[in-house]
Amino acid sequence: MNNITLIATSTFGLEKVVKIEVQALGFENIKVSEGRIEFEATLEDIPKTNLWIRCADRVLLKMGEFEAFTFEELFEQTKALPWENWITEDGKFTVKGKAVKSTLGSIRACQSIVKKAVVERLKDKYNVEWFEETGPEFTIQISMLKDMALLTIDTSGIGLHKRGYREEAVEAPLKETLASALVLLSFWNKERLLVDPMCGSGTILIEAAMIARNIAPGLKREFASEKWQAIRKKAWTEARRSAQNAIITNFKLQIFGYDINRNSIEACKINARNAGVEKDIVFEQKDIKDLWIDRQYGIVISNPPYGIRRADFKEINEIYISFHKTFKKKKGWSLYILTADDVFPNYFKRAKPDRVRKLYNGRIPANYYQYYGEKPTSK
Ligand SMILES: C[S@@+](CC[C@H](N)C(=O)[O-])C[C@H]1O[C@@H](n2cnc3c(N)ncnc32)[C@H](O)[C@@H]1O
Repeated sequence: MNNITLIATSTFGLEKVVKIEVQALGFENIKVSEGRIEFEATLEDIPKTNLWIRCADRVLLKMGEFEAFTFEELFEQTKALPWENWITEDGKFTVKGKAVKSTLGSIRACQSIVKKAVVERLKDKYNVEWFEETGPEFTIQISMLKDMALLTIDTSGIGLHKRGYREEAVEAPLKETLASALVLLSFWNKERLLVDPMCGSGTILIEAAMIARNIAPGLKREFASEKWQAIRKKAWTEARRSAQNAIITNFKLQIFGYDINRNSIEACKINARNAGVEKDIVFEQKDIKDLWIDRQYGIVISNPPYGIRRADFKEINEIYISFHKTFKKKKGWSLYILTADDVFPNYFKRAKPDRVRKLYNGRIPANYYQYYGEKPTSK
């Protein structure tokens, strides 16, 4: 059982970033499909991947994948899988699911068939008729895609975006996983100046500081599989200890966050403190209209407010105009803007975006506009 297959799931558009992360952790033969980064691993890799992957939504343990056109096929093939290797007699297991373009299109029916099949398998193995389900959590997922059934158990529990540092969220915060991806998709590195002039709860900047300091994103939280008997406690303790030792402290960062809203700035400070990066970021209440840039080179990564209501449009136009005024002549600045508002490039006229990536901010399709600045001469 030591050889297992893991699947890091990602939101649309982030597969490549997650693949690079998985590669950087030392995995090879990585298969990528929509929202799925699949790789061979060992039991010890469950703690490692959960602690370290910044941009994936979850890490799933793959139990099996097979064709299923009828409920009988689904039942029999699910029952044939070794669930008892993972789910203990006291295990609490729920079945979630989704079905796309499949003959077995009723996901509720699929879920209930899977649950029945797992129960039947475990009844035989544990020789009992009834399960109390008072123990560790095992969330099984059945995913039907074009008549292929994929069965997994969720090793993460709460989504990986919940790092455990963001107690205080203000209006429309980005998921930490997406914020981290925005940083990894940029040219920023720890030597360079970074500014988010509309930083909200500070997510982009906190993630950047954590990347620079090599702080494992999962260090401050727990995972569902931490309670599983199949994984030695020692594997978790060692993975946590090695993540703790991997933190780099001996350098200074130049990261600045501004927001018009005072509560935002208060939230940023609390969140940064929780994340252990409060000394790395200067947060200050400031309207973007008053932003004054006196450095030749730098990087902006930001996600401006996106107005749904008509009343917001004027305010947003003003933000875009200020942004344009501040950065139109700053050729040494690279700018990375995530917004669902297609008109942003019409306002920021320094140049056409060098690259536009299609991403999703939650369920909202958004563009990540990338404007590359001139390279610094010394750094
Ligand atoms: C979409 S939110 C940013 C969310 C942030 N990325 C996060 O993850 O928490 C946009 C932010 O822009 C701020 N904002 C709105 N108008 C502004 C202005 N004129 N100057 C500076 N910040 C402004 C809002 O207060 C809000 O926090």
